[in-house]
Amino acid sequence: MGFSVSWSWFAALSCVLCMGGEVWCECTEEGMKIEDGYYSLTRQLQSGSMLFYTCKKGYYPYPVLTRTCQLNGKWRPEKSSPQICKLVECPDPTVLENGDVSPPQDKYFVGNETTYECYSGHNLRGSFRRVCLPNGKWSGFTPICSRDSGHNCPDPGVPAGAVRIGNLFGIGDKVKYSCSNNNLFLVGSKERTCLENGQWTGTEPECYYKHTYDSPLEASEAFGSAIKESLTTLQPTGNEQSGKNFRISKDGILNVYIAVDISESITEKNVTDAKDTIIKLIKRIASFTVSPNYEIFFFSSEVIEVVNILDFLKDGVQPITIIEAIEAFDIGDHNTAGTDLTLTFETILSKMAFIKDRVGEKNFTAHHHILMLFTDGAYNMGGSPLPTVQKIKNLIYMDHSSGENHPRAEFLDIYVFALGIEVFDEDLQLLTTGLGGKHYFRLDQITNLQKTFDEVIDEDAVMGLCGLHKAIDKYSYGYKREMYPWSAYINVESGDSKTKCLGSLVTAKFVLTAAHCFKRNDLPRHVTVEIEDGHGTVKKVKDFFPHPEYNVSARVDQGVLEFYDYDVALIELETAVATTYKSRTICIPCTLETNIALKLPKNATCQQQEELLLKDRLEILNFLTKTKNSIEEKDAYIHRGDTRAACIKHALDAKTIIRTDKAEVAVTENFLCSGGRTIDYRSHIACTGDSGGAVYKDFEHRTVQIGVVSWGNKKKCSGGGLKESDSTSRDFFLNLFRVVPFLKSIIGVTTSDGYSPLTFLE
Ligand SMILES: *[C@@H]1O[C@H](CO)[C@@H](O)[C@H](O)[C@H]1NC(C)=O
Ligand SMILES: *[C@@H]1O[C@H](CO)[C@@H](O)[C@H](O)[C@H]1NC(C)=O
Ligand SMILES: *[C@@H]1O[C@H](CO)[C@@H](O)[C@H](O)[C@H]1NC(C)=O
Ligand SMILES: *[C@@H]1O[C@H](CO)[C@@H](O)[C@H](O)[C@H]1NC(C)=O
Ligand SMILES: *[C@@H]1O[C@H](CO)[C@@H](O)[C@H](O)[C@H]1NC(C)=O
Repeated sequence: MGFSVSWSWFAALSCVLCMGGEVWCECTEEGMKIEDGYYSLTRQLQSGSMLFYTCKKGYYPYPVLTRTCQLNGKWRPEKSSPQICKLVECPDPTVLENGDVSPPQDKYFVGNETTYECYSGHNLRGSFRRVCLPNGKWSGFTPICSRDSGHNCPDPGVPAGAVRIGNLFGIGDKVKYSCSNNNLFLVGSKERTCLENGQWTGTEPECYYKHTYDSPLEASEAFGSAIKESLTTLQPTGNEQSGKNFRISKDGILNVYIAVDISESITEKNVTDAKDTIIKLIKRIASFTVSPNYEIFFFSSEVIEVVNILDFLKDGVQPITIIEAIEAFDIGDHNTAGTDLTLTFETILSKMAFIKDRVGEKNFTAHHHILMLFTDGAYNMGGSPLPTVQKIKNLIYMDHSSGENHPRAEFLDIYVFALGIEVFDEDLQLLTTGLGGKHYFRLDQITNLQKTFDEVIDEDAVMGLCGLHKAIDKYSYGYKREMYPWSAYINVESGDSKTKCLGSLVTAKFVLTAAHCFKRNDLPRHVTVEIEDGHGTVKKVKDFFPHPEYNVSARVDQGVLEFYDYDVALIELETAVATTYKSRTICIPCTLETNIALKLPKNATCQQQEELLLKDRLEILNFLTKTKNSIEEKDAYIHRGDTRAACIKHALDAKTIIRTDKAEVAVTENFLCSGGRTIDYRSHIACTGDSGGAVYKDFEHRTVQIGVVSWGNKKKCSGGGLKESDSTSRDFFLNLFRVVPFLKSIIGVTTSDGYSPLTFLE
């Protein structure tokens, strides 16, 4: 298909020559209008400009999606019939075997609903009700009516619009798929084989129209599960925080190659979007514990390298420098005409060969390679890239065979993200390879790809990693939980007294909070903890442990009527909290888990962590507050070094509890001092319900708790909420780095019911 484009360029070139070589004909807008839609041009009416038709949601441009202005001033394809917006159609669902589809129709359009029922003796798997969606796909999953036939593999069904050949599902049996009409093409496996373990090879195929796209959510689920497999396979050992084992590698090294098409079919805004998307992806990958080596380039007819993978062989390049390099990239006067996918893959092949040469054949066997190609696929130069892709396979597989079942297939993944409207799907799909799910994605806009990468982190694959969270900025409660999945509400109720505090999940069974949330006579049954983990929000408490040195009246004789030193406590839950993207642990100081989160060497010390997290004189940390229906994040400016003394002096303003003139009697070295405002900054002040909450810092998508909200010099607000500090209001947070022996004594040891402890540093 790509070749037809190449041919037209030739034809156009000869036209220019016979006209004297200098004059480039412009296209005209005459007759280009589309009924009920509009079009945009990438380079006005110049040759090479692309015309994109757009229709409203649920409609697609017909008969063509795009046109290209050729050098001879003509649009290709030429106009034959009026350009209109047609209703999106979904592929035929009446392919169900052993069941009925209602209502039966010739064609199914966006919004149409179908229901599925199986004949007696057959059971339904998949969705019994599906709706035709604006992206040209049916909601839910392929319905399958099957009966227990004693076969090894389950009936693989027939996806909408498809035809299946093969009705035997025993070990070694094959089924083949095609699409039922010429307007559809198949994405996914054309052939699947039943394996001994009762599973089919490959992925379920789907039939797409030219107007069918993957939604960001679908793409993220499919890409997420595939890439997480790669990322977590390479987890270093010692990561069994919640008792779950990862598939541990082989000291593997991960090489990630990212190639982004900036040929003329893509506008300048698209390039900025592409840059942002790649940065997002790299940050996402950086929140896992592997640190891949990156090769990143943009391409058209030439390759413009941004990050060179060979630099990683010399010394560690940090993700931050990679991101700077991408941000600095500017198209400038680079030639953006034409798309040469062969050159693209040759560039990658040569890098791989160089790495192999450098590290030696033996070490190279442990290298994993992930290629991600972003393109619209209209390659018009360099011929088919397939032979080069085969060379890449030969290099990685270390022999000349190929195919899905190659023993080294897990070492190479090629993902293709097809973007835009006129995509050359058949050609591009052939370039993909790899195990573990879908490798071909079709998205209408690069901004949807950003959403895809935002969703990529979740759930079980990253089970034991502390501090992971989503960084999305949506203002609904559900999303807030995903941003602060470690946050917990604590209620203590005994007799007439009710206390509300915040806390943080530090292991699956323990919540950290302030000791002052409990009174002397409180019992575990008076305490409940709220964390939403899909198994009921309210958690029962087995026991709680205030710091043994916490004693609010310890310094009454020195004029401190309420003394909050060691204001920290751990709550043990009856049952472990399930790890989901809404409920996950926070990282705490001086643990191996936190070294990994901070990307420090495994043998880094507690002091190194503290130096990394608390380094500036005025360090910005955050804490949470509960509002009516949600949680909000507050800023805390921590005064350190030579500014600390002036900060803690304001503790003396709390005249009702402090009757001494020595602030350090009340504010020991165990406290961090926050608050105040100047023209340069404004701290928030803690409100009563904020006590016990985590004071934390985000470090590359991982959250590390540094302190616990303890007390303040002024009562400025009660019952939570965002409230700014005035110039003398102060909050004092207990510094967790000062109470590590206490933390270790409780959560550094295996509990009686076998929950694995955190690994504290020596
Ligand atoms: C299917 O959708 C088309 C277009 O919106 C509509 O005209 C038709 O009535 C729908 N059919 C059913 C059964 O809802
Ligand atoms: C190959 O790996 C071994 C063990 O990881 C390492 O000691 C050696 O330096 C590596 N060789 C090269 C050339 O990188
Ligand atoms: C490129 O940007 C234009 C707007 O500038 C947008 O309409 C189009 O969808 C973008 N293309 C892709 C592939 O994201
Ligand atoms: C708290 O400190 C006071 C003053 O030193 C002491 O009398 C009291 O026994 C202490 N309470 C506990 C529970 O240790
Ligand atoms: C950690 O180990 C590396 C090499 O294994 C060594 O160079 C470094 O000094 C160690 N760091 C600490 C803090 O022990």
